[in-house]
Amino acid sequence: MTTTFRVEPGGSLRGELRVPGDKSISHRSIMFGALAEGRTRISGFLDGEDCLATLAAFQAMGVPIERPERNTVIIDGVGLHGLRPPPGPLDMGNSGTAMRLLCGVLAGQPFDSVLIGDASLSRRPMRRVTEPLAKMGARIDTGANGTPPLRIHGGQSLHGHPHTLAVASAQVKSALLLAGLWSEGETCVTEPAPTRDHTERMLEGFGYDLQRDGRRACLQGGGRLDACAVEVPADISSAAFFLVGASIAQGSDLLLRHVGVNPTRTGVIDILRLMGASIDVRDRREIGGEPVADLHVRWAPLQGIRIPPELVPLAIDEFPALFVAAACAEGETVLTGAEELRVKESDRIQVMADGLVALGVRCEVLPDGIRIEGRETLGPGAIASHGDHRVSMSFAMAALRAEGEIVIRDCDNVTTSFPGFAELAGGAGLGIAVT
Ligand code: S3P
Repeated sequence: MTTTFRVEPGGSLRGELRVPGDKSISHRSIMFGALAEGRTRISGFLDGEDCLATLAAFQAMGVPIERPERNTVIIDGVGLHGLRPPPGPLDMGNSGTAMRLLCGVLAGQPFDSVLIGDASLSRRPMRRVTEPLAKMGARIDTGANGTPPLRIHGGQSLHGHPHTLAVASAQVKSALLLAGLWSEGETCVTEPAPTRDHTERMLEGFGYDLQRDGRRACLQGGGRLDACAVEVPADISSAAFFLVGASIAQGSDLLLRHVGVNPTRTGVIDILRLMGASIDVRDRREIGGEPVADLHVRWAPLQGIRIPPELVPLAIDEFPALFVAAACAEGETVLTGAEELRVKESDRIQVMADGLVALGVRCEVLPDGIRIEGRETLGPGAIASHGDHRVSMSFAMAALRAEGEIVIRDCDNVTTSFPGFAELAGGAGLGIAVT
């Protein structure tokens, strides 16, 4: 049996809430804490399955990690040369971030390792990391078609390389910078468009010398990381469901507290505002090297837009939610330049289009995007989420504008990024039941 969401139509989102910790930052905090010298305390950690897979992987490599309370992690770092061979394959579950970043870490270790994942992760492309890592001297075997499992041959001596990436991917950039820590000489990564820079910020936070110049980041191998305290802000990618829900549901008025607003992540706010959304960014502050703010969102009529291509990498995880906003906007919304959506936890262009069609929305699937015609009301209908957490949560929010119940199947993976979603959304006014 898998989890099903049954969501009553209508309602609004009101009140104040804090969504769980940022997934990208939580993964990295475990990795850097494990590889640092000294004790790292992480607060606001996302206790989601994806980040717990990263945590378990470092425990399996001999890193002492304590959990004094929920959302807090204490790591006694083993330093860059202290990892031990894991007793078996490291299971990354549903997490592309865990697998790709760990590739960069494991490529430079003296021992062999194997990375495996669930059915979704086992379909995702890994050559985008293994090929550039090979240019640094890494030896990694992929499965057929460049997918997991990955067999990483230890004991290679890595050397720095000036990488120019073809895909705008923070995961690839991060894997290469991480491998650079164990490489002789300089590793540089130039990206085609800005992507999330949490790795760069955390390298600096852990005292590593990093040169940044526009879209290029460079480091020298052979340094050290020094433990520090990490405070993980609330995840803007999880806040996005509430930004969309409150924007489409008449009468909504919601304050989302302590949300990470790193400028490489705020495309969702920019896109919703271009559509006419009412979102105030309040009390901006900087915590542990990351910008944080409270987001005040109120219902507002939305209009369809052409999504500016430069915002695509800055909102890459928020498109399932944004497609629901587009389905409730007046007129047509067009997205192009987003072929990356096809290789996320599901093919998010096709899976979202199928779900929208099931709710009566007209849309046209494009090779690298989608065209969506907005409607006054949606549904009712049944949605196959294909096990994609963000698809499940996006369609849950769609019920706020539906004429009848929306049933979403295969919602188990919501816990990968947003444990407690149904409770939090229910408390804010969504009529959601979990069966
Ligand atoms: C992530 C980067 C993005 C994003 C993913 C998390 C990260 O992937 O979609 O959810 O933490 O670095 P890509 O770098 O593949 O675009």
